[in-house]
Amino acid sequence: MFYNSQSNDHGLPHDPFKTLVAPRPIGWISSKSKEGASNLAPYSFFNAVSAQPNLLMFSSQGRKDSLLNIEETGVFACNLASYDLRNAMNASAAMVERDVNEFTLAGLTEKPCQLIDAPCVAESPVVMECRFLDVIKFSSYEGISSDYEMVLGEVLGIYIDDDVIENGLVDITKLRPIARLGYKDYSVVDEVFSLVRPGDG
Ligand SMILES: Cc1cc2nc3c(=O)[nH]c(=O)nc-3n(C[C@H](O)[C@H](O)[C@H](O)COP(=O)(O)O)c2cc1C
Repeated sequence: MFYNSQSNDHGLPHDPFKTLVAPRPIGWISSKSKEGASNLAPYSFFNAVSAQPNLLMFSSQGRKDSLLNIEETGVFACNLASYDLRNAMNASAAMVERDVNEFTLAGLTEKPCQLIDAPCVAESPVVMECRFLDVIKFSSYEGISSDYEMVLGEVLGIYIDDDVIENGLVDITKLRPIARLGYKDYSVVDEVFSLVRPGDG
């Protein structure tokens, strides 16, 4: 099949776009409001965008609490959602009032970050502490505006659970990160293969 993405005439019961850009890593974003209310939510429009400096992004569909908090405080943390934490990750996606603490909702332990004034998930094996850099709005070539806004952050500090480091390398099969597929589906990183790039010997 082929369809026109602008008219989105795929004829399928569900829009396949997000299924086709998969797997998408999950940025499990923790932040707090200027009044001090802690917040936690998963974002799968999420990725690293630069390795030097370490920059990452997530996209918020509408001005959700995470985006509002980050604009207010200038900082946020990105927690790794592992397979063991999948149900807590899902519970933290509840659309609740801004002053409702999703750490509590999801049965998680909140702890302070080391370099920034934001909470993070104590159970998470990796936490990236970020400074807010920019928020970018999108529109199509024809000027139709998207309701998504992209938050760009600079990673200032990274916590890694020592137990997942083997011979100086992070063992991703110990972290078991989950990733978003389409529909209600997820995948988990359980298997790894390696390739040597041309010219890298
Ligand atoms: C796995 C997963 C991925 C999600 N990805 C996004 C996303 O990329 N952008 C978005 O706006 N909402 C996303 N959501 C929905 C938000 O997590 C949800 O709206 C949440 O209530 C937002 O919380 P906040 O208002 O505290 O930031 C996702 C939900 C789940 C379960």
